[in-house]
Amino acid sequence: MTRVLFISSIFLSLLSLSSSQPHHFLSHHRRRSPPSSPLPKESVEVSLPLRTSGLPPPPSECTLSPLRHSFGNTIGQPPVTVRYSPPLNCPPPWSYVVLHLGGSIDGEQYDRIAAIWLSGAEILRTSTPEPAEESGTFWNVRKDVTRYSSLLQQPNGTLSMMLENLVNDEFTGVYHVNLTILFYKDEELGIVGKNWGRKLGLGLGFKNAGGDDEKQKPADLVIPVIDEGKNGLWFRIENESHVGSKRIQIPMNAKRIMLEMYVSFHGDDEFWYSNPPNSYIEANNLTTTRGNGAFREVFVKIDGNIVASEVPFPVVFTGGINPLFWEPVVAIGAFDLPSYEFDLTPFLGFLLDGESHSFELGVANAIQFWLVDANLHVWLDKNSSKVEAGVGSFKLPEFQESWEYNFLLLDGSFKVEAERKSQSSGWVSYGCLNLTTSIVKRMKLKNSITFKKNGTYKIVKQHTTVKMEVKVASSTGSLVSWRTLKRKYPLTLITSTLAVGDVNLMTTNFSHALCLKEKSSTPQGKFFRSIHNSQESGGSMLVKGHSVISGVAETQQTLSYRGDPSCFSRNVYASGGKLVTDDSTSVCPSLFHEGRFQTFGRKEII
Ligand SMILES: *[C@@H]1O[C@H](CO)[C@@H](O)[C@H](O)[C@H]1NC(C)=O
Ligand SMILES: *[C@@H]1O[C@H](CO)[C@@H](O)[C@H](O)[C@H]1NC(C)=O
Ligand SMILES: *[C@@H]1O[C@H](CO)[C@@H](O)[C@H](O)[C@H]1NC(C)=O
Ligand SMILES: *[C@@H]1O[C@H](CO)[C@@H](O)[C@H](O)[C@H]1NC(C)=O
Ligand SMILES: *[C@@H]1O[C@H](CO)[C@@H](O)[C@H](O)[C@H]1NC(C)=O
Ligand SMILES: *[C@@H]1O[C@H](CO)[C@@H](O)[C@H](O)[C@H]1NC(C)=O
Ligand SMILES: *[C@@H]1O[C@H](CO)[C@@H](O)[C@H](O)[C@H]1NC(C)=O
Ligand SMILES: *[C@@H]1O[C@H](CO)[C@@H](O)[C@H](O)[C@H]1NC(C)=O
Repeated sequence: MTRVLFISSIFLSLLSLSSSQPHHFLSHHRRRSPPSSPLPKESVEVSLPLRTSGLPPPPSECTLSPLRHSFGNTIGQPPVTVRYSPPLNCPPPWSYVVLHLGGSIDGEQYDRIAAIWLSGAEILRTSTPEPAEESGTFWNVRKDVTRYSSLLQQPNGTLSMMLENLVNDEFTGVYHVNLTILFYKDEELGIVGKNWGRKLGLGLGFKNAGGDDEKQKPADLVIPVIDEGKNGLWFRIENESHVGSKRIQIPMNAKRIMLEMYVSFHGDDEFWYSNPPNSYIEANNLTTTRGNGAFREVFVKIDGNIVASEVPFPVVFTGGINPLFWEPVVAIGAFDLPSYEFDLTPFLGFLLDGESHSFELGVANAIQFWLVDANLHVWLDKNSSKVEAGVGSFKLPEFQESWEYNFLLLDGSFKVEAERKSQSSGWVSYGCLNLTTSIVKRMKLKNSITFKKNGTYKIVKQHTTVKMEVKVASSTGSLVSWRTLKRKYPLTLITSTLAVGDVNLMTTNFSHALCLKEKSSTPQGKFFRSIHNSQESGGSMLVKGHSVISGVAETQQTLSYRGDPSCFSRNVYASGGKLVTDDSTSVCPSLFHEGRFQTFGRKEII
């Protein structure tokens, strides 16, 4: 690990600073006026539909409603757990399984983080809307959970949900939640499901994974990497040295293994990408605890060695930055936080020794607090009791970070650049196959935070790029499959604060996007998809303490998906808490078919 430090100049001031300080982005909640309109409003996350054709899914074969609960004052309490068994009237296998969470809230309340676990494996990380002014709010989250089929078909399992809420005289909102699971047997839908790419699908590997057709199926085993203490099933990470760990023995006939990680950030790290360094906070005698600079990275270690890492996509909760931005359209990923996938198949050579190994999760530079856990998806060679595997060339992730901090009193600029490269390869031999998986991954991050006008004008810019390539080759060296993935998350946040007595007028522009491009070539065919999901918000609000007294806001969102065989795009514009326009189409631009896809085809032949 290399750390390069540049400090071109630091001006420390001897002037004293008392009460007021530059404004950081706090979670706010909307102060409600007395009820007048009886109709609750729907809060929505604009995401890909379950079918990109835009058609509603056909009726499900059967449904289960395993949990219905009201989350009142649940802070510090263990998750709500019920028994789960698969539906008797439509036994597995299913082509497609959807989890539907329906919720409602009335009263005054902050947004809350929540998660659902099936027999200990997390299947959804979600956050709640804040109740709309006057009327209350309801919302719906639908997620493809087919990948958890091995747990869904197990009788006598458990289903747990955690949503820590605080109810008192001031914050009266109780979250009412219904969970339904819909099971489909329609093969056609399964195929469509594969093509639209599994929700936001930030990872690689659950589709067209190469080698043999078996690998496109959900894993045979899903093993949770969770906290078995009393603070919920997720690890609550409070600092960099704190890692969540679990010892796990991988079955000797594992032929493929993926780690899927769930993560969310809260408290002093809710807006980690806008946190200034501690030197600035100390020099100005600020009382804020939102510091430690703006670089964070979640890492995965096996037996103490780092094997994977990820800079998470900055999900903004409904009370974040300006809560009025997120009414009724919430921020990207707020109701269905992306999970991150790491192909650990190259490490099977270490793991298949009949011993248990320690899987550890942690966050570089973390301050309180992060909620992290993971699932190991394991595919087995059912023909044998032992798979042979070996580790090939392996380079420990190389990490470079540089920073440049420049400030005078409350004004200044803070720049961080980080880059990580990793490379791993390993072979797995089963049946008459001997497949070598090689993975190259590169992450780049640039972050800059600028304070102007005596700390009252703050500009945050962040750009993260991840590139990954996975190749599977046979023992003769010929390429069996390859996949490439590129992800980008640009973010810009500009806030100007004007203090008027004990009230602050905050004017903010915020834009961010999640862009993804994936290509693959396997014996089953070629696959391409791209997702571009961006939001631009602007507005202002009057804030007293943590409460928003009044304000105006607008949000524009564009979501476009291009893949084979379908396309989908949706444009929404919300202003003053209402959806003003909402257009969607599933027509593919002809350019895509004639131009881009062919370019991709040509590239593969080379
Ligand atoms: C911070 O506090 C120290 C000790 O009270 C004081 O000497 C210094 O001038 C203060 N700095 C600023 C920028 O207010
Ligand atoms: C800058 O802000 C500090 C703290 O709010 C205040 O004490 C100081 O007077 C301000 N300086 C100017 C030039 O406005
Ligand atoms: C939960 O389901 C019940 C029964 O279908 C329904 O009456 C109620 O409105 C639902 N609540 C929410 C929050 O979706
Ligand atoms: C289901 O689990 C419970 C508690 O773990 C156990 O007592 C019961 O015997 C199990 N039932 C079956 C059919 O496995
Ligand atoms: C880090 O957090 C853990 C868990 O909260 C705590 O036990 C430990 O003392 C902390 N370490 C440091 C260096 O603060
Ligand atoms: C399992 O063994 C059978 C019989 O030897 C063979 O036909 C089949 O292809 C094997 N399956 C796999 C996945 O290797
Ligand atoms: C599989 O292939 C790798 C690399 O080509 C080789 O080192 C290894 O010995 C092979 N394993 C078996 C069991 O043939
Ligand atoms: C936000 O964007 C609008 C329109 O581009 C611009 O007029 C305004 O000055 C911006 N506000 C801030 C705080 O940058």
